Amino acid sequence: MNVPLRSHILQCRVNGQPLELELTSAATLLHVLRNDCGLNGPKLGCGLGQCGACTVWVDGLAARSCCMPALEMQGREITTLEGLPADLQVVRQAFIDAQAAQCGYCLNGMIMMAAHLLRDQSSPSDADIVRALSANVCRCGTHVEIMQAVRLAAQRLTQGSGA
Ligand code: FES
Repeated sequence: MNVPLRSHILQCRVNGQPLELELTSAATLLHVLRNDCGLNGPKLGCGLGQCGACTVWVDGLAARSCCMPALEMQGREITTLEGLPADLQVVRQAFIDAQAAQCGYCLNGMIMMAAHLLRDQSSPSDADIVRALSANVCRCGTHVEIMQAVRLAAQRLTQGSGA
């Protein structure tokens, strides 16, 4: 016999906006963001917390939304690629300018992790960048361009220029 899942109310904030939603305990944060909020920055890659394509920030900390129960987001602040703070939009632009995408599927996670790093550390070393991005998978192998993009973003942030 199938037992229907009980629904609950989730109240949180997504990219600075209040969100109230009725959902079951089976819903993941990624599902809510993509299917209920229409935010397609975070991607479903492995669905197992191993590739990083689904990375968002939860209360300012990087998290893998594919395996986070949405109901655990009660009262929390979620930030997606679409809601990166204005001063960190330079990171997105640097990835474009450095042509760091091939298929582009990993870039949400790469940018969210790079922005997380640069928010806290304006002049990271190459070792710092590698460490910050090492758990994010790029299957196309654009790691050289991704490193260039993060260096470029750091340089622009330090100079206070989005150009
Ligand atoms: Fe979430 Fe791979 S899709 S870590």
